[in-house]
Amino acid sequence: MRLDHLVLRNFRNYVDCEVDFPNRVNLIIGGNAQGKTSLLEAIYFLSTAKSHRTYPDNELIRHNEDWFYLKGIIACSDKDDSCTDPDEIGIQSDLMTLEVSNQLNGRKRFKLNSHLQKKLSQWIGQFKVVFFSPESLTLVKGSPADRRRFIDLLLFQIGSTYLKHLQNYQSVLKQRNELLKQIRSKQANVKLLEAWDTLLVEDGVAIIQARSETLDQLKVHAQAKHAELTGDCEKLELIYQPPAILTGIDSVSRSEAVEQFRKALNTSRDNDILRGTTSAGPHRDDFKLVLETQWEGTILREEAKPFSSQGQQRTIALALKLAELEVMRQTTHKTPIVLLDDVLSELDEVRSTFLLELLQDLNAQTFITSTHLDVWMREVKDCRVLTVKNGQID
Ligand SMILES: Nc1ncnc2c1ncn2[C@@H]1O[C@H](COP(=O)(O)OP(=O)(O)O)[C@@H](O)[C@H]1O
Ligand SMILES: [Mg+2]
Repeated sequence: MRLDHLVLRNFRNYVDCEVDFPNRVNLIIGGNAQGKTSLLEAIYFLSTAKSHRTYPDNELIRHNEDWFYLKGIIACSDKDDSCTDPDEIGIQSDLMTLEVSNQLNGRKRFKLNSHLQKKLSQWIGQFKVVFFSPESLTLVKGSPADRRRFIDLLLFQIGSTYLKHLQNYQSVLKQRNELLKQIRSKQANVKLLEAWDTLLVEDGVAIIQARSETLDQLKVHAQAKHAELTGDCEKLELIYQPPAILTGIDSVSRSEAVEQFRKALNTSRDNDILRGTTSAGPHRDDFKLVLETQWEGTILREEAKPFSSQGQQRTIALALKLAELEVMRQTTHKTPIVLLDDVLSELDEVRSTFLLELLQDLNAQTFITSTHLDVWMREVKDCRVLTVKNGQID
């Protein structure tokens, strides 16, 4: 895929900005607080309908305005990923236009090729993006919710039914928790739980199985990318971890999983009523990251979160993001766009060159922000330098 054209209106510090991206590698250079991250955030929003910085969407509206608007024109033909002749690209590309507007009152409109989309699930996932930023470190050191968000966003981009299952599940979970509280205060009969449990299990098992399948794919690529990044000195393992009461649910058939989930809900029912919340289910999922290292001839296997260094955490997060890209590419036969925010400043020249070589091999359109332009950056193939100043791009 390739983002050809982007329009930003009233988005963060951008008033009205239109920009073309004809090149494969786009170096976004600018001082602090000029709008580099906001530009990548806008591209990411067109893909996921979310900001990677997890603010409420209204924070994205330019101060003293009451709406923002984004538009992206995307070449999504598979062939353009390996095609460098612009004329050929013109002939082969099937262009897609995505538009989103958000008003201060919370009203959002999503358009795909000028048609209003009623369901978010028809809009998300059309334009595939992988974003690596300082926030990506939360994949390693953040909470289970951060890791669930990562896997969910990947699944939104590769599977059209997943978002629907997740939305249903969250809505049923909310209503079940309400009911648990009512039962606790003797305002409702415990028998009413049955119907909610059936719905919860239905969507819950679909979520668990989708996550488990995707994590299986992800771990193979993450391990390979991690080995590449560490020169084979360390080994990364990814382990799917449903809540204890559902252990093993990811490796059984659908009917057995339904049975196991139901049993777990029954077992924890009294406790759930007491606490007014549901303890078993994929809303409590996590995945564990285990790092195998060698130290004086001894092999150490430790969970990455508490034990790894900042550099190791960054490498793991990067390996996961590169694996995300491979899974997207394999599943959808499209190469996502890669966004790298503030990554080069954290790496020395050798590692930066290594990273850029790796990206060059991926053959993906890439956007990289940096506060300054190093000489070696100019040597990157098919590269354009864009300067960002006060919400304007040259
Ligand atoms: N809603 C908003 N309206 C106007 N300006 C904003 C808004 N949100 C952030 N900004 C400002 O936009 C500028 C650019 O931010 P950012 O893109 O994060 O900069 P950087 O170039 O350092 O990545 C900052 O000065 C920030 O304070
Ligand atoms: Mg920034």
